[in-house]
Amino acid sequence: MQTTKRPPASVVFIFGGSGDLNYRKLTPALYNLFLDNWMPEKFAIAGIGRSAYSNEKYHEHLLDGVTKFSRRKGKLNGHWTEFSEHVSYLQMDGDDAAAYHLITDLVKQKEEEWGTHPNVIFYLAVAPQLVPSIAQKLGALKICSEKSTTRIVVEKPFGHDLESAHELNKLLSSMFAEEQIFRIDHYLGKETVQNILALRFANALFEPLWNRNYIDHIQITAAESVGLEGRGGYFENAGALRDMVQNHILQILCMIAMEPPVSFDANEIRNKKVDVLNAIRRITKDQVHDVAVRGQYSGGWKKGEKVVGYRQEEGVNPQSNIDTFAAAKFYIDNWRWQGVPFYVRTGKFLNQKATHITLQFKPAPHYAFPSEAAETWRSNRLTISIQPNMDISIRFQAKRPGQTMTLDPVDMTFDYDAVAGDHAPEAYETLLLDVMEGDATLFMRNDQVDAAWKVIMPILETWESRTPQDFPNYAPDSWGPEGADALLARDGHTWINLPPVVS
Ligand code: BG6
Repeated sequence: MQTTKRPPASVVFIFGGSGDLNYRKLTPALYNLFLDNWMPEKFAIAGIGRSAYSNEKYHEHLLDGVTKFSRRKGKLNGHWTEFSEHVSYLQMDGDDAAAYHLITDLVKQKEEEWGTHPNVIFYLAVAPQLVPSIAQKLGALKICSEKSTTRIVVEKPFGHDLESAHELNKLLSSMFAEEQIFRIDHYLGKETVQNILALRFANALFEPLWNRNYIDHIQITAAESVGLEGRGGYFENAGALRDMVQNHILQILCMIAMEPPVSFDANEIRNKKVDVLNAIRRITKDQVHDVAVRGQYSGGWKKGEKVVGYRQEEGVNPQSNIDTFAAAKFYIDNWRWQGVPFYVRTGKFLNQKATHITLQFKPAPHYAFPSEAAETWRSNRLTISIQPNMDISIRFQAKRPGQTMTLDPVDMTFDYDAVAGDHAPEAYETLLLDVMEGDATLFMRNDQVDAAWKVIMPILETWESRTPQDFPNYAPDSWGPEGADALLARDGHTWINLPPVVS
C-alpha cells in the first residue's frame, strides 16, 4: 500500500519468464508502473525460462502481451523501447543448480553499474510443483541471506492441502525469513478490495451497523463467465474450492469481517485477518452435506456458442469429479458475527463475470406504513462490487413520487470506475510495487495460509471421499447447481444477482 515514494534500485527475476502469467499480467503491470513513474530509478528485469529467446524476440513477445492485456490496451506503447532496455532474458533450467550463477552474475553487474546494492526479487510464476526445487536452489545463494533486500514471491496455490502447505512453508522458512516471503493473492491488490478497508475504517458511519445487531446475512459471489481457458491440467488437481475459496474468497471474507486495526502496519492487519479465519466455525464431515455444495458444468450453450462440458475439456479426465462450482455457508464465532451466515459461491461458466459482496440488513423493527404502501418493500442492503463493476451501492426505501404513500427501494451508488477512469492500477501493479517496497500488508503470512486451509479441509476431504452422484449438474450460462439455491432457501434466503453490466 504505497504512499508517495518510488522504491529503491531493484533487480526483478521472473521464473516462468516465457509463461502466460508474465505475458498477460506481470510485464503489463511493470510497464504501467514505469509509465506512471513508480518504477525505481534504477531497475532491471530478467525473465527466466527454458525456451530460447534472443532479448529482441523476448521484447517483441512481451510487447504483444502488453498490447493485448495492459489496462492501457497499447496506449503509450511509444515508451516501450525505453522500458525494454531494462529487460533481458536468461535462458536457464530452474532445475539446474549450476545455472544459478547467471543470476548472481547479473546482480553483481548491476551492483557495480549502479554503485549500490539493489533489492533482489525472485518472482516464481511457475507451476506449483516447480516451486520447492527453485526455492531450494535460490536458498543456497548467498544473496538470499540478505533479509532486508532479497525477497521471494510465491504465487497461489500455496500448497495443495493443509499438509502440503505446511511442508512448503517449512521449506521456505528454512531458507528465507518470513519478511522475505511474499505469498501473493492477486485479489488483495484489486483497488475495490482495498477500498473495503477505506469504506469500513475511514468512515464513522458504517462501523456501528457492521455487526450481528443489524446485519442479517452476508453473501460473497465470485462468478466467472469463462471456462477453463486451456488450464485443464491445472484445474484437474485443484477444483473451484481450492482455486478460489481457499484464497480469494476467504481473503475477501476476512476484509469484511475483521475487527478495526489499530494501525496499517502489515502485521497488525494480518493479525486481525487471521483472527477471523481462526473464528470460523469448524465444519464436521457430517455437516458438509448441509453447508457446502459442489457443481460441475455440462456441455451446452454459452451466449449463443456451443461449448463442451468440463469432462470433455482438454487435459480433463472424462470421469472427473472435480468441482467447477463451489458454494458454502460459514459462521464466525465471535461477538461481532455470532449467528450471521456468510454465504460464498464461485464457479466457472456461470451466467456473468461478477464479483460482489452483499450485506443484507435486518428488517426495520416496526413497520408503521399501511401494507399497500409497501408491496415492494425490501430490507436495506449494501453491495460492494469488486468487478467488472467497481461500485458501492446502498439500497433504501424512498417514497414513490405522487399523491399516494407508496414505498420503493432505490439505490444510491458510488461509482469507483467513474472516479478512477483508466488511472486505477491493476492488482499486479499494486502488488509488484509493494514487493519492491518490502511492504507485506497485502500478502499472506504463513499462519493465514494455514488457517485458510483449516477452514476448507473438512469440505475438501469429504468431497474427495464421496463420489458426487449428479455430476455434471449445471448448464453453462446458469448460476450453478440447484443445490446452491437450496443452500440459501433452507434459511429463507436467495442468492443476489446484480443486473448484467452493459458495456
Ligand atoms: C485465479 C484462478 O487465481 O483467479 C483462476 O486460478 C481464476 O481460475 C482467476 O480465473 C480469477 O481472477 P480474476 O481477477 O479474473 O477474478
